[in-house]
Amino acid sequence: MKSNVRPDAMERITTKELADKFIEEQVAEVRAQVGDKKVLLALSGGVDSSVVAALLIKAIGKQLVCVHVNHGLMRKGESEQVIEVFGKELDANLIYIDATDRFLDLLKDVAEPEKKRKIIGGEFIKVFDEEAAKLEGIDFLAQGTIYPDILESDGVKAHHNVGGLPEDMEMELVEPVKLLYKDEVRVVGSALGLPDEMVYRQPFPGPGLGVRCLGAITRDRLHALREADVILREEFDNCGLAGKVWQYFIAVPDMKSVGVKNDKRYEGWPAIIRAVNTTDAMTATIEEIPYEVLHKITNRITTEVEGINRVLLDLTPKPVGTIEWE
Ligand code: XMP
Repeated sequence: MKSNVRPDAMERITTKELADKFIEEQVAEVRAQVGDKKVLLALSGGVDSSVVAALLIKAIGKQLVCVHVNHGLMRKGESEQVIEVFGKELDANLIYIDATDRFLDLLKDVAEPEKKRKIIGGEFIKVFDEEAAKLEGIDFLAQGTIYPDILESDGVKAHHNVGGLPEDMEMELVEPVKLLYKDEVRVVGSALGLPDEMVYRQPFPGPGLGVRCLGAITRDRLHALREADVILREEFDNCGLAGKVWQYFIAVPDMKSVGVKNDKRYEGWPAIIRAVNTTDAMTATIEEIPYEVLHKITNRITTEVEGINRVLLDLTPKPVGTIEWE
């Protein structure tokens, strides 16, 4: 797929049949492009890179080398899922790098949000580059570019693209889903057999929990955030909000308040719940969460998560608040 412009006549992929046809065409196209050469892919576990990985595994099997960099800022269970689905079930050629210490050491004492983003983005490229340099005979770089990325590449979202890859990599690009919209990528992912949990995942920023562990990140507060976040996700799953709300997460500020736990004074951080709906992330409205769900989440987080003693609800639309806190 050479052109970056979606032809007017291109049918929207809405069914399994259409997805199967697309997959068949792309498999042939990728095989023709790549031949017997190797292809490298940074596999974050997000929808786009996962679908590209599954598609390329189908097309060229072990000629695809997937590199998953765990920057230590993933949500609970995410890296494990990448290993399970791609390393085990799909038997991919997967290199897993746990770079948690590298990232957290660099981020130590850094409180400024854009500086944090730069460090995370820069280090990601470094780790990936180092890994690529160890591999021999790689001629192609696969990317999970989708059509909105092409349309928006000069727009407002550009400043967010910190998880990008080095521009000076001398490899030809393989971008099999670059003319697809997000909903089509999901249909293709399902047709390829990827689990719903992966295909219908909510958007997750490249710097991950790094921009939700507000201010200077510490390991204990990051741990508390990760545990609170998984409780929020579980309870949204339980009450059916998970499939309905566009983005929902916890942010934990670098601030403590006084509380009581087991009859003792207990200083802890607050967990802030944010649940928003949007179509393009430029503006967002607040999802109304039923009170009984909020009570349950509050109860679970304050009893199950070490270090958290209050739960707050963020009711701010965008504008005036951005979706993320940093
Ligand atoms: P804001 O906070 O600007 O977020 O309202 C809009 C959307 O972008 C996501 N976001 C990011 N995504 N790298 C990303 O890949 C980033 O640095 C980043 N910051 C925000 C945010 O989660 C929301 O979906």
